[in-house]
Amino acid sequence: KILILDFGSQYSQLIARRVREAHVYCELHPFDMAITAIRAFAPRGIILSGGPKSVYEAGAPAIAEELFELGVPVLGICYGMQLMTRHFGGQVVPAGKREYGHAELQALGTPGSLFDGFFVEGKSPVWMSHGDHVARVAEGFEVVAATDNAPVCAIQQVERQLYGVQFHPEVNHTPRGELLIDTFVRRICRCSGQWTPGQIIEDAIGRIRAQVGDEQVILGLSGGVDSSVAAALIHRAIGDQLTCVFVDNGLLRLNEGDQVMQTFADNLGVRVIRVDAEDRFLAALAGVTDPEQKRKIIGGLFVDLFEEQSKLLPAARWLAQGTIYPDVIESAGAKTGKAHNIKSHHNVGGLPDYMQLKLLEPLRELFKDEVRAIGEELGLPRAMVWRHPFPGPGLGVRILGEVKKEYADILRQADAIYIEELYRSGHYDKISQAFAVFLPVKSVGVMGDGRTYEYVVALRAVETRDFMTAGWYPMPYADLARISNRIINEVRGVNRVVYDISSKPPATIEWE
Ligand code: XMP
Repeated sequence: KILILDFGSQYSQLIARRVREAHVYCELHPFDMAITAIRAFAPRGIILSGGPKSVYEAGAPAIAEELFELGVPVLGICYGMQLMTRHFGGQVVPAGKREYGHAELQALGTPGSLFDGFFVEGKSPVWMSHGDHVARVAEGFEVVAATDNAPVCAIQQVERQLYGVQFHPEVNHTPRGELLIDTFVRRICRCSGQWTPGQIIEDAIGRIRAQVGDEQVILGLSGGVDSSVAAALIHRAIGDQLTCVFVDNGLLRLNEGDQVMQTFADNLGVRVIRVDAEDRFLAALAGVTDPEQKRKIIGGLFVDLFEEQSKLLPAARWLAQGTIYPDVIESAGAKTGKAHNIKSHHNVGGLPDYMQLKLLEPLRELFKDEVRAIGEELGLPRAMVWRHPFPGPGLGVRILGEVKKEYADILRQADAIYIEELYRSGHYDKISQAFAVFLPVKSVGVMGDGRTYEYVVALRAVETRDFMTAGWYPMPYADLARISNRIINEVRGVNRVVYDISSKPPATIEWE
């Protein structure tokens, strides 16, 4: 396994993803991880991330002296390379010109085996982002590459297996960066690359069994990717010791409740208690128009119902959750200065303490891509595993203003047509999130010989990496025309369809 020390780069998580993509297990920890903890972790190699500071600034993040005495290979990226240089007596200075963006790297001397295949005809395109550079390398190091702006862009000390690169191999803009990271972890660090879906599942099963023993576990199943994969995995490990509670709040997509039951109860044989609570949710929401108020009501009622159910299972000692690694990294604050994403699992975050359940989080170490891969391996349907995110309050925040059953039924039908057409035309997998929104506004239309006066449906589709910023999806007109025709013809109560062309910011992805 590989240890990544995080010095605050916006790309630190990407390093971890690239290492995992090489099928090698790794963890991302803050740069000041104690040396005793590092020894206990026993990494086969260490990667030092980039960071926003200058190594010569007072109070700049530093590393434990003993790090280089562990005898394991170290790769320093950007700030990491500068730290390494300074540590061994080289010189880092502010660059005359800040270098940001594409650069052409030129090989010097004989790059060692880390760079096998990285240079083609002595060159390699890379992505740079730095204000300082190494002016003089430390003794014993050789310079392996430079750009026009920076004389030292890659260094090595082959006997001690110390390497440094000024550019960012972890970003997609460095086309052969993936290869470099793969070579580092597999060839230089000799990690065997066994972190595959099958192996992840096997390890997880072993750990779940050891943790839980013969005790009972409950899990709030939402139908979303994370809780679904957690349920399938835990069921594989402990079978009937798992009970899932699935609350149908009446604000789910068309047939979603039946699909969840079919996938889990019928196909996988998981014990699922379905709580049909549409009436209770709609009654609680009657007359409420404020979005945050609606969220509170839906979230609170969910907790009440989950609690009621768990009282019927007094033997339960564990609460299972689909927390994934990006949630853990963010809340640990390993990542500096970034605002938090809204978590889909926060629905079950607010259980009362007196329930005294221990937390079981078998996906805590996994990235979304890995969660999806093991979901498929566990036999969950592709459509479930690759589904777009769906907010906890469901259609409750996609029906603007007051929520009524009539509106929810209209929206469900329109949304189902929209999504079906996106699958059919091949757009679905290129879009990060798509859905329909119900506008409780009537407008005039004409159908046949008659005048109509009916509701409006808005369609939203966005592309985004992290859901913090998003652009609207450039849907071809022909597809929009077909979707609009079908919705207006097939859904009673709708005579107008509009397409949302707002980006985030300033709009948000959801309308409420
Ligand atoms: P916004 O609308 O803030 O959405 O741009 C960003 C992402 O978060 C989802 N979202 C929610 N998820 N409970 C959730 O579990 C919520 O209350 C909630 N609000 C927004 C949204 O679907 C998008 O993926």
